[in-house]
Amino acid sequence: MLVSAAEMLKKARAGKYAVGQFNINNLEWTKSILLTAQELNSPVILGVSEGAGKYMCGFKTVAAMVSAMIDELGITVPVALHLDHGSYEGAKKCINAGFSSIMFDGSHYPIEENVEKTKELAAACHVLGLSLEAEVGSIGGEEDGVVGAGECADPKECKMIADLGIDMLAAGIGNIHGKYPANWAGLSFDTLAAIEQEVGEEMPLVLHGGTGIPADMIKKAISLGVAKINVNTECQLAFQAATREYVEAGKDLEGKGFDPRKLLAPGSEAIKATVKEKMELFGSVNKA
Ligand code: 13P
Repeated sequence: MLVSAAEMLKKARAGKYAVGQFNINNLEWTKSILLTAQELNSPVILGVSEGAGKYMCGFKTVAAMVSAMIDELGITVPVALHLDHGSYEGAKKCINAGFSSIMFDGSHYPIEENVEKTKELAAACHVLGLSLEAEVGSIGGEEDGVVGAGECADPKECKMIADLGIDMLAAGIGNIHGKYPANWAGLSFDTLAAIEQEVGEEMPLVLHGGTGIPADMIKKAISLGVAKINVNTECQLAFQAATREYVEAGKDLEGKGFDPRKLLAPGSEAIKATVKEKMELFGSVNKA
């Protein structure tokens, strides 16, 4: 059964670890992530961007697939199905489609409008027992058409949004979607510490752009209130590298190596290995 992310993140915040949000793209991605979470006895959040939702034939298809897979695979760890960087309209669609958690990314609106829309969606989510993530400041780079300049969040604005009854807060602290450039300045821990000071010790903070952040920075971010870390690109890169290796070794030409179940297997195993590595780093193993 799908659950809201509120409870798992409260526990993570109190226990000083983070729950991974891994973005899904198709059936193989979903299966690999769910099986790894179950094997490691870890809670997990499946992230769905609006673009990926469209690719998978709409949010209702995604919700039905994930719910059925949890049932058929016998997954018993807590799983949240979460809209990633949702628009106002996308959030409403996912609320109706059976998602258990929503991110409304109003960071590109003036703060008053972000407050107004976040407040309305928090009420809509909570009536149905869904969790809500909001964003202040912006995550740099591009993810599925959502482009951010990467400015650090204003801690006072974080407080305004955190007070609206949301369950988790994403705040820009110099993090970027996709690969980090060689000249990346790193995470701004001063900003993160100031945000934690403003919003208090109970609000789970969300670190987007989890791909390629060094382990020491991840640990420090968790110590300053990060309880959810999003990873997308790293699973894509792992899938791509393993698939390339299979094809370049000519394995698709041997016997029935062209069978999609064989062709997609190395990539699926590579996703599992990446998710395992992240869950171990984030400290969510055996926290289900
Ligand atoms: P990466 O693609 O950099 O891992 O970021 C994922 C993310 O933040 C999803 O919202």
